Amino acid sequence: MGNGGIPKLISEIDSLLNPLEGLTLEDADLDFGSDLDIRNLVDWIQSGNKAKKIMVLSGAGVSVAAGIPDFRTPGTGLYDNLQKYNLPYPQAVFDVSFYRSQPQPFVTLAKELWPGLTHSPTLTHSFLKMLSDKGLLLRLYSQNIDGLEYLAGIPDEKLVECHGHFRSASCIECGTTADPESVKNTIIKDVTVPKCDKCGGNVKPDIVFFGESLPDRFHQMLRTDVEEADLLLVMGTSLQVAPVSMIPDMVRCEHRVLFNREPVMKIRTGKDLFLPGNCDDQVMELCSILGWKQDLLEENAKVQINNSSNFKNDEGTERKNLRKEPREKT
Ligand SMILES: NC(=O)c1ccc[n+]([C@@H]2O[C@H](COP(=O)([O-])OP(=O)(O)OC[C@H]3O[C@@H](n4cnc5c(N)ncnc54)[C@H](O)[C@@H]3O)[C@@H](O)[C@H]2O)c1
Ligand SMILES: [Zn+2]
Repeated sequence: MGNGGIPKLISEIDSLLNPLEGLTLEDADLDFGSDLDIRNLVDWIQSGNKAKKIMVLSGAGVSVAAGIPDFRTPGTGLYDNLQKYNLPYPQAVFDVSFYRSQPQPFVTLAKELWPGLTHSPTLTHSFLKMLSDKGLLLRLYSQNIDGLEYLAGIPDEKLVECHGHFRSASCIECGTTADPESVKNTIIKDVTVPKCDKCGGNVKPDIVFFGESLPDRFHQMLRTDVEEADLLLVMGTSLQVAPVSMIPDMVRCEHRVLFNREPVMKIRTGKDLFLPGNCDDQVMELCSILGWKQDLLEENAKVQINNSSNFKNDEGTERKNLRKEPREKT
């Protein structure tokens, strides 16, 4: 396949899988389930039996309030702001074959995005941590690579990082694991490409590039989670990247809730709920009605990375030590 073949193919498959791409509230001839509102969601959560195994699918939109741009929002999204990298097409920055010959654009971007240095978890991340603490979270499937779920304190077992993470790294040629600290230093301090000790190939953090498989954990957990979940929350994703984009159609639960600025999936009357706008605003509204608002604000204050006196930073140090070994090959 020639240069650009795989991303092009992915985008063609995606457009088949995502017939609603580009729709806005105004032009979409869809039913947005106006018979349901946020109080229905509150009832499901408070009933004690309707939403006690909540599955969440999140995307870049949940981290926009942390100052990390999403991909596809026109104007502010990363894809509209990659001109400085001189890429043949925007997705090239996350393409393995491109990284092999031209690693510098990813290295420069990775330095900007490296988790734990500047960006703190948002209210939405802290809300998901609260769901976990209350025993209501079945699993969080995050497409993000910013590590903010991890920094928010969501336990490993509750989290599936569908597109990998920066905490481990390996060679794109021979697969040999590299020392994560040294990879981090090479990228953050030297802003150059880390090289493999064994074969001299380019090393990258274990985030999933186009053309790479998702972690085994994703497939393993998904099989049973789609059967078990009693509610699905879809938050801040355009549902443009397969196979994650198929999750809303795979779950067996009766109700699904979409927190997004745009209607990215079909809303079934009487079953689904669309909460438009910024997910942090909707989360605040939801937590106010649930009586969780104060706890949410306190939970979020603890995980702000500039707050050096908080216990989460202490916990973060501990968690980092616990996670020296790569958890999965991505
Ligand atoms: N933070 C990150 O880690 C990050 C950032 C950019 C892209 N990505 C990558 O992008 C790929 C998939 O794309 P995606 O679907 O996650 O992102 P995307 O850019 O394709 O879509 C983001 C969606 O969130 C919506 N949105 C933006 N801000 C929002 C807000 N404040 N509240 C609610 N909704 C908001 C947008 O309207 C859009 O529908 C993933 O592979 C992911 O790895 C990750
Ligand atoms: Zn190698």
